[in-house]
Amino acid sequence: MSDHPLAKRFESWGQLEECREQMSRITLRELFEQDSNRASRFQLTAAGLKFDYSKNFINQQTFNGLIAAAHSVDLKGAISKLLRGDPVNNTENRPALHSALRFHNEPETDEQKQVAETLERIAKLVTSVHDKSWTGFKGDSITDVVNIGIGGSDLGPRMIVKALTPYHTGDVNVHFVANVDGAEIYDLMQALDPASTLFIVASKSFSTLETLENALSARRWVLEGGCPESQLAKHFVAISSKVDKAVEFGIAAENVFPMWDWVGGRYSLWSAIGLSIALAIGVDNFNALRSGAATMDAHFRDAPLEKNMPVIMGLLMFWYSQFYRSQTQAILPYAFHLQLLPAYLQQLEMESNGKSITKDGERITYPTGSIVWGTEGTNGQHSFHQLLHQGTHLIPIDFIATLKAHHPIQHQHRFLYANCVAQSQALMTGRSLEASIAELRSQGVDEDEIARLAAHKVHPGNRPSSVILMEQLTPKTLGALIAAYEHKVYTLGVLLDINSFDQWGVELGKQLGTHVNNAIETTDIPGDWDSSTRQLVEDFCHSNDEL
Ligand code: F6P
Repeated sequence: MSDHPLAKRFESWGQLEECREQMSRITLRELFEQDSNRASRFQLTAAGLKFDYSKNFINQQTFNGLIAAAHSVDLKGAISKLLRGDPVNNTENRPALHSALRFHNEPETDEQKQVAETLERIAKLVTSVHDKSWTGFKGDSITDVVNIGIGGSDLGPRMIVKALTPYHTGDVNVHFVANVDGAEIYDLMQALDPASTLFIVASKSFSTLETLENALSARRWVLEGGCPESQLAKHFVAISSKVDKAVEFGIAAENVFPMWDWVGGRYSLWSAIGLSIALAIGVDNFNALRSGAATMDAHFRDAPLEKNMPVIMGLLMFWYSQFYRSQTQAILPYAFHLQLLPAYLQQLEMESNGKSITKDGERITYPTGSIVWGTEGTNGQHSFHQLLHQGTHLIPIDFIATLKAHHPIQHQHRFLYANCVAQSQALMTGRSLEASIAELRSQGVDEDEIARLAAHKVHPGNRPSSVILMEQLTPKTLGALIAAYEHKVYTLGVLLDINSFDQWGVELGKQLGTHVNNAIETTDIPGDWDSSTRQLVEDFCHSNDEL
């Protein structure tokens, strides 16, 4: 019996350990040679996405073992609990009902009805900004919208607005400010005119330091720009689950759009938090995004586990993290407009599954949420792909590609796609010592030089990756893609026995940030702080005294 801490949780653990052993004796290349049908066997299509996971360390037996593992933790039941609104966020005793935020033709549940009502109000606001009937304090129409928010109140909308650039209506420019670093909002203020700028203060809790400080700076800027206090409502709207706090802050009650406790911040882009998205791409496209996600929800709910895209995505990462000790995963979208996807997925995956306590409060001794990283297009090929090809880490990769571009420079899109496919092929096939020697010989290199260089030119290969392919990056396919990752994260949470929906780990830093700030402000540094922290505080005090 294995001494892995998860062995008792999964009946198929022993079988999976055997598979792991078998896989170490065979290469991906050989797996393809043995089974001419492999590409079709290990792929599936749902909600406009094709998921090719054939270049992973699995055979039918491994796959069956992973599906059995999902059954032994009743993943099917867990999916139903999530989607019907059971309190799956057990530490906060709430549901995680982001699926209620999707587009539903006929809202049925109370939550879906609340969402539909709020999004009707959002649609009116968007129309009034687009048709120029919403005006600023001087009577100017709105040219620029600034979303002030951080984490889930920033990363999702920011990523989608960039991803759907070809769908921008052109009625307004949409900007984002997140960091408490004043440089970010200051730079933006230099470029904008307060008379034609609308701020969206997006904060579920309405108590986030960064957002409140940026909102106060924006308020001062608008007032200094000549706006009478009585007309501030023309320049500020808010989205929050604490409507009273937003009103107390000074946002007019009719300009506050609710969100709810049953929506996690990092799962909220489909709600009123998506106002900046709707302003950028219009309400119809925003609804198409939400409807793509609804299609993926239905697939997640209805498809059997062995044909379920988010489930298989989660199982693969489970396989690599538990049986190969992979600590990171790379997200490589070969689509320029998806450049913010890795940053968005960092919060989604790492804030959700970066835990070391089980749902029932037991300490965890196995790996949990992995480190997500990546970049867009071929940029990585001229940078970290060296490590992917010849380094010593096993890093499962998701390549994301589109068959059609939105721009007319077709041959560049062909190059982009070809590079994506070639990277996934090269990582798998590698290049042997013999092939390296032959290549050097064909280049006329002398034998001594070949002996010196050949080993450096070897690509070990046998590195796993998956490809997620779509016809084109549209609101619908993007909605489906994001929902697939949301559900993958939940799948992993269920397998790993953790609550994917709380984030207590961000609290301590926030509290200490306030303490350090107070110490600097009062120059009263607690005597029991460590010498490093004390010195760093003193450095700032001295430097700013001198100014
Ligand atoms: O600090 C983490 C966090 O709570 C995230 O979970 C959240 O998305 C972000 O801060 C912003 O929170 P809020 O929307 O409440 O301002």
